[in-house]
Amino acid sequence: MTPSPPRAPVLSVQSLGHRYDGPPVLADVSFDVAPGEVVAVIGPSGAGKTTLFRAVTALVRPESGRVEVAGRDLAGLRGAELGQARREIGLVFQHYNLVRRLSALDNVLVGRLAHLPTWRVLARRPGPEEQALARECLERVGLSDHAGARADTLSGGQQQRVAIARALAQRSRLVLADEPVASLDPASAASVLATLRTVATEGDIAVVCSLHQVELVAGFADRVLALRAGRLVLDVPVAGFGPEHRAAVYESDPSPSLPAAPCEARPGREEPERATATPERSRT
Ligand SMILES: Nc1ncnc2c1ncn2[C@@H]1O[C@H](COP(=O)(O)OP(=O)(O)OP(=O)(O)O)[C@@H](O)[C@H]1O
Ligand SMILES: [Mg+2]
Repeated sequence: MTPSPPRAPVLSVQSLGHRYDGPPVLADVSFDVAPGEVVAVIGPSGAGKTTLFRAVTALVRPESGRVEVAGRDLAGLRGAELGQARREIGLVFQHYNLVRRLSALDNVLVGRLAHLPTWRVLARRPGPEEQALARECLERVGLSDHAGARADTLSGGQQQRVAIARALAQRSRLVLADEPVASLDPASAASVLATLRTVATEGDIAVVCSLHQVELVAGFADRVLALRAGRLVLDVPVAGFGPEHRAAVYESDPSPSLPAAPCEARPGREEPERATATPERSRT
C-alpha cells in the first residue's frame, strides 16, 4: 500500500519559550499536530500546560518561538484578524464556561455567533441555518434530547459535551481542551473523552487535551506529550507510552531519566522525536 502523503499540520509549535515575571515556564517546546490527531498533554501541576494553551491562542504573547494555527502565525495578528484566527480554535475548559441560564442550544449558538453579521449578534437572532448547525453539533455530542434544557440543570459531563458542541459550532479545526475532565466522575470523564475522540475522527479536527488522569490516556489519545518544568520531555505515540514513562514524568526528582520510547515517524516531521529529559531547573 502506498503511504498517504504527509498532511499540513493544523498546529505547529516551534521552539516556544515563555516567562511571566520570573524564570522560564516554557522552554524550547516544539511539536506539530495533524488534522484528526488526538494529543494528550500530561505533566505535573505547574509544568506549563495551561501556559502552552494560552500561548497557542495568543492570550499570552510568547517570549520566543512561533505558533502557527492552520498555517497562520498568530504573533503578528491583532484585532479582527486575530479574532478570525482564534475562531479556528475551539476552547474547552475544566469548568465548562457555559452561560448557566441559557439553554444548551443557545450556548452552542454562542460559538456560532462569532460567525454572524454584527446586527444579528446584537439582536441575538441567529437564522435557521445557524439553528440547524447548532442542533447538528448537539447531536454529534449525543445531546439532541437536551437542546432546550438550561445549562445549569445539566450534569457536569453533559455540560462539558455542550462545551464541545459549542467548539464544533465554531467550525474549529483545532480544539484545545484544558483539563476537560478534571471535575467529572470517572464515567462522565470517559464519556467526555470518547466524545472528543469521536469529533476528532469524524470531523478531521485536531484535539490537544491536557489531563491529570494519566490512566485515561491509553483509550483516548493517539500521542502523548509530557511537560516538566516547561520543557517537552516526552513525545510518543500512545502505544509507546508505558509505566516507566509515567513514573519518570511525575517522579519528584527534577532530573528524571526518561527511558527512550519507540516513536514512529509522523507526517510533517523530519525526524522522530525521542524521549528526552533535560529539565533546566527544578520547579519550586
Ligand atoms: N498569570 C501568571 N503569572 C505569573 N505566573 C504564572 C501565571 N500563570 C501561571 N504561572 C506560573 O507558570 C507556571 C506554569 O503554570 P501553568 O498554569 O501553565 O501550569 P499547569 O501545567 O497548567 O499546571 P496545573 O496542572 O496545575 O494546571 C507555574 O509556575 C505558575 O505558577
Ligand atoms: Mg493548568
